[in-house]
Amino acid sequence: MAINWYPGHMGVARKAAAESMRKIDLVIEVLDARIPYSSCNPMFEALRRQGQRPALKLLNKADFADPEHTRRWLQHYNSQPDVKAMSMSAKRPKEVQRIPGLCQAMLPGRGTRLKPLRMMILGIPNVGKSTLMNGLLGRHVACVGDEPAITKHQMLHALGTGMTLMDTPGMLWPGMTQYVSYKLAATHGIGRAAYEDEDVAVHLAGYLVSQYPALLTKRFGPLTTDCDGHGLLETIAQARCLARKAGGLDLARAATTLLNEFRSGALGRMSLETVEQCAASVSEPRIDIVAS
Ligand code: G4P
Repeated sequence: MAINWYPGHMGVARKAAAESMRKIDLVIEVLDARIPYSSCNPMFEALRRQGQRPALKLLNKADFADPEHTRRWLQHYNSQPDVKAMSMSAKRPKEVQRIPGLCQAMLPGRGTRLKPLRMMILGIPNVGKSTLMNGLLGRHVACVGDEPAITKHQMLHALGTGMTLMDTPGMLWPGMTQYVSYKLAATHGIGRAAYEDEDVAVHLAGYLVSQYPALLTKRFGPLTTDCDGHGLLETIAQARCLARKAGGLDLARAATTLLNEFRSGALGRMSLETVEQCAASVSEPRIDIVAS
């Protein structure tokens, strides 16, 4: 099944953000630490590089991600020019409070009343931007929710003296590859209406079986020696006694169980891509961009 989810309001938001890119000094890009490559919007990465704006890349939801993979991603980003990266959880106020200082350190000449530091926050839907904004501004500014694309308007906020923060809606891009769309669906960056749970779960299961068999065994019991994505769904259905009324295992419910438990972190800390797996693509903006 092809997943291609690009609501109309995201096209409008993209134009507004492209316009704003010229008026800001630094981009705060919120990425999902489990999929730093797939959660990077290539349209904005290309615009940022063209505009030569530095970026603070925040690998958010690091509490869900495999710490060793996160360490490698940080190393990767921190070796790029004009980029600083930090792993974090937007739900932890102490980590959020480090961000303004990091931004100021990247542009030491800015951050005063006369020469303000103007920042823009970017990220795909559901990556944690609203949670982060609320933590940064110390008040409730954005509606936090687990359904993608809740924030729809661009807003400018003062962040102490000499700093402004432009909030943008979560945005995807048209023409994304299937590799990326499956990762985004598994981590809930794409809304549920765009795909079948079972289709996404089989892909997710296949990857998890190859990378995290011990964590899966701990949660669902022993895996068969030749277990693949479909086999994991069968194991889950058996372990949780999920049977269809007409007889046979209920793989649809097993799929939803896997997605829910992966997304909630109940399976343990897991990442869905490594620097090495994305090595051919990570250094340049991706070619799956279809600018509209
Ligand atoms: P968005 O604005 O980018 O669309 O994302 P938003 O802040 O609404 O966050 C989406 C969901 O992700 C929320 O979950 C939020 O709590 C959760 N979240 C954000 N950052 C982190 C993080 O660093 N770690 C973890 N574990 N979760 C994070 P929710 O289910 O709607 O709410 P809640 O029950 O978690 O409060």
